[in-house]
Amino acid sequence: MRAAPLDIRNLSAGYGPTRIIEQVSFEIGAGERLAVLGRNGMGKTTLLATLMGLTTRHAGEIRLNGEDIAGCRTSARAGRGLGYVPQTRDIFASLTVEENLRAGLKGQPQSMLEEAYEIFPRLRERRGNFGRQLSGGEQQMLSMARTLLGKPSILLLDEPLEGLAPVICDELMELLARLVAKGEMTIVLVEQQVERALEFASKVIVLERGRISWSGNPRTLMQDQALVDRLIGVGIH
Ligand SMILES: Nc1ncnc2c1ncn2[C@@H]1O[C@H](COP(=O)(O)OP(=O)(O)OP(=O)(O)O)[C@@H](O)[C@H]1O
Ligand SMILES: [Mg+2]
Repeated sequence: MRAAPLDIRNLSAGYGPTRIIEQVSFEIGAGERLAVLGRNGMGKTTLLATLMGLTTRHAGEIRLNGEDIAGCRTSARAGRGLGYVPQTRDIFASLTVEENLRAGLKGQPQSMLEEAYEIFPRLRERRGNFGRQLSGGEQQMLSMARTLLGKPSILLLDEPLEGLAPVICDELMELLARLVAKGEMTIVLVEQQVERALEFASKVIVLERGRISWSGNPRTLMQDQALVDRLIGVGIH
């Protein structure tokens, strides 16, 4: 049997000596879509950052296709197929859209830029605009497009819908659905828009103070508003 693309075992991590993530374990199969839910400050961003090697790991394993990468540097993790779109949308404000995308090419052919523009036609229209001139939604698209140029097999998305208008959210969610429909990508989605996340996900974990307080099928949460309220404390309607 092939090893799971991502298999996390007893992961504990934080910032220096401070522990934020406590004994987190989960596994994601190829083409699966994991939603990571939880209230503010519960450790969602820290979990993704830990997968990328950007925090202090205290214990546990991070297995990528069967190999423990917990000791690898961030760049090596990216090289092995982990793509990360951080909550802060790290685009270069003083570079144009196209220059930002070129920075994501990492030696790949220029023709890849066309692929990115096909996925995000809006970015083609604004290819000469500076990062700082983009709307929040466009910045999110640029950040995602640049990560996708690295052809990740596992895409980690930290609140991609934050601050975006509902129609842009629809556009981005449709795009993600198209990406996973090809069956090539596994997605970990941290999102506060619970309803959209549950519609998208095939599996859910809920974090509470850095621990998994619930995990299971998104349908279970969709049908149980009281459980959602208890776990996440927000309505889904
Ligand atoms: N760089 C840091 N140094 C020290 N503590 C941090 C740092 N970043 C976050 N924390 C702390 O870690 C805890 C978890 O934060 P984290 O950003 O992972 O939460 P989150 O679930 O992503 O929240 P949000 O929904 O607000 O984005 C919080 O208590 C936060 O104050
Ligand atoms: Mg966060």
